[in-house]
Parts: sequence; structure tokens; C-alpha cells
Amino acid sequence: MTVGLLERKENMTGLHEPLLEVKNLKKHFPIKRSIFRGSRGTVKAVDGVSLAVQTGETLGIVGESGCGKSTLGRNIIRLQEPTDGKILYKNQDITHFNEGELRKIRRDMQIVFQDPYASLNSKLKIGEIVGEPLRVHRIGNKREREEKVQYLLEKVGLDKSNMTRYPHEFSGGQRQRIGIARALSINPKLIVCDEPVSALDVSVQSQVINLFQDLQEEFGLTYLFISHDLSVVRHISNRVAVMYLGKIVELAETEKLYDNPAHPYTQALLSAIPIPDPVEQKRRERIILKGDVPSPVHPPTGCRFHTRCPLARKICREEEPTFKERNDGRWVACHLV
Ligand SMILES: Nc1ncnc2c1ncn2[C@@H]1O[C@H](COP(=O)(O)OP(=O)(O)OP(=O)(O)O)[C@@H](O)[C@H]1O
Ligand code: SF4
Ligand SMILES: [Mg+2]
Repeated sequence: MTVGLLERKENMTGLHEPLLEVKNLKKHFPIKRSIFRGSRGTVKAVDGVSLAVQTGETLGIVGESGCGKSTLGRNIIRLQEPTDGKILYKNQDITHFNEGELRKIRRDMQIVFQDPYASLNSKLKIGEIVGEPLRVHRIGNKREREEKVQYLLEKVGLDKSNMTRYPHEFSGGQRQRIGIARALSINPKLIVCDEPVSALDVSVQSQVINLFQDLQEEFGLTYLFISHDLSVVRHISNRVAVMYLGKIVELAETEKLYDNPAHPYTQALLSAIPIPDPVEQKRRERIILKGDVPSPVHPPTGCRFHTRCPLARKICREEEPTFKERNDGRWVACHLV
């Protein structure tokens, strides 16, 4: 499932119209040090991201903590308003939609959060939690909503008798299933999954990942799957985007990216994954990056990875590499690749 990022390719093939397109998206948060001094610079959480997501695919987003994954996800479904750039949903520019306009597209876009403990209202019964989006969007009458909730609970592997119980009576994995049922209630097309299994025991993670895959197949869902766990992302994604300090440095089909990472940062990230085969593990060298991730308030000049890149040279400090498509269909931002 290869999908080009820019209009050029879509127009050329005429085959695909992406469900979602993001063009040079930026989200800068003002830093307020004191109410007297006002704003002091900005955190450049997302700083020029372009990507396209095809209907029915899973695009994985990986990168270290603080690189802007969640901010990207939240801006895409307009839980936050972008600072700059464009978000096109089904070819419609939703970048600056107001609340009234957003209501119409909110049914299509849902989010599943990392922490199934914090994201469910502990005072509500499961039936109320799962049915809440239906109520908010005034879908169906009470009996129809109840039937839908029962159906959804069964779809996510929970018995409908759980309707009258409270979140604290469930395990982390079960709560995440409840969160997924809630997200599904209004038949969304796109679901942003923000570290949806990171808080779960490893033994439960694969069950929830399988559930995501089954539901995708059954309902034709499209996922933006955010995680710092490279193995989880490899398992579920058709394509993967690697973020560093607010930018995508590489985007490619999953197998291409993992088998043969092109960007020096992707290479370093992947070199840290343990390989079950000891011979292969020995053959592959672990790349240890020097220093810490720089601050997104003052990102480095030129290529923002230059302060840690083992291959950095003069041009890297001076010129920002463009994010462009290579011959093999992958997108990379690096002067040397
Ligand atoms: N509301 C906000 N106000 C100010 N700064 C913010 C806000 N939200 C995020 N940031 C900053 O933006 C940067 C990106 O944060 P974000 O949460 O998007 O990263 P992330 O990749 O999701 O990290 P993690 O893997 O830890 O979840 C961080 O420096 C963070 O401190
Ligand atoms: S542009 Fe230079 S610093 Fe940046 S990743 Fe490529 S080689 Fe490294
Ligand atoms: Mg996050």
C-alpha cells in the first residue's frame, strides 16, 4: 500500500485520494514565564510535518519522548488548533474549522489514549461511557443506543452484562477495550491511537493489538498509530513515519524501513531493538547517539539532528535538508541519503 505524500503523485496515478493530508503542519506553544513578562519564545512541538494517510491503512508514528507525536495526533483531529500549515480531510480544509464546523467532522475522527485509567470517567457506568458519544451527537433513541452499546461491547470482547459496572472493576486491558468501544460508537473513519498499549502488561498488549487489527478489517478503519515502541509499530503499520524534534525524518513502507533504514536517526533508533537471532544481533552494531535531544524551543540550525548525527558535516549545520522522495518510494530528510 504505497501512497505518495504530495499531490504530484496522487495526480499522476489518479488512483488514490488520501483520507487525510497534512501539509507543512506546525504547532508552536507559547512559553509563558510570567503574567507580567508575557510570552517568551515558543516550544516548536510540531514544526513542518507533511504526510498523507490512505483509507484503510495504518500509519505508524515513532520517535523518542517529546518529539511531537501526540501533538501531531491532536492537531490532526483538531483537538488543538495548528499554528501553521494545512490539514485536509477528504479534500476539505479543516485547519481552522470553528467548533460548529468541527462538529460535523468529529463523528469521523476519534482518539484512543494511552492511559485507560485516566481516560474513562470513573463516576459513569460502562454503558454510559460507551454510549456517551451517541448521546452527544444525538444518534438514535435510548433503546437503540443501548442496543448499540451492547453490540460494541461484544465486538471488543466484553460481555454485555458489564454495562452496569464501573471502570474500577476492570483491568487495564479491559478498560482499553471499553475506550475502543467508546471510540467506535459513532462509526468513525479515522482513529488516532496515541500509545494505546504502552500502559498495558506485555501479555495483554498483543491481544489489544489483535483487536485493533480485527476491528480495522471489519469496519474499514484508518489508523494513525502513535507509539515509541518500535516492535508494536512494526507489527501493526503499513507505513511508518519517524519523528525527530517536531519533524518527520523518514517515512516508508514498514518492511523497507525496518529492513533497511535510510536516515541516520532511523538507523540509530532501530539498532537499539534486540534481535532474537544471536548471530544477527552480533553482526549488527548498536549505534549509540551522543548527547541528549536538543530543546524544541531552540532547535539546532540546518538539519536538527546534526548535533547527534555520526555522519554530520558542514552542510548539515548550515542547510536544512528537504524531505523528499527517493527512487525506492521512501521519503527522507538528509543531505547524504
Ligand atoms: N500544551 C502544551 N503546552 C506547551 N508545551 C507542550 C504542550 N504539549 C506538548 N508540549 C511540548 O511539546 C513537545 C512535544 O510534546 P508531545 O507530547 O507531542 O511529544 P510526544 O512525542 O508525544 O512525547 P511522549 O512520547 O512522551 O508522549 C514537548 O516538548 C512538550 O513538552
Ligand atoms: S543531514 Fe547531515 S546531520 Fe542530518 S541526518 Fe543527514 S547526515 Fe546527519
Ligand atoms: Mg505522547
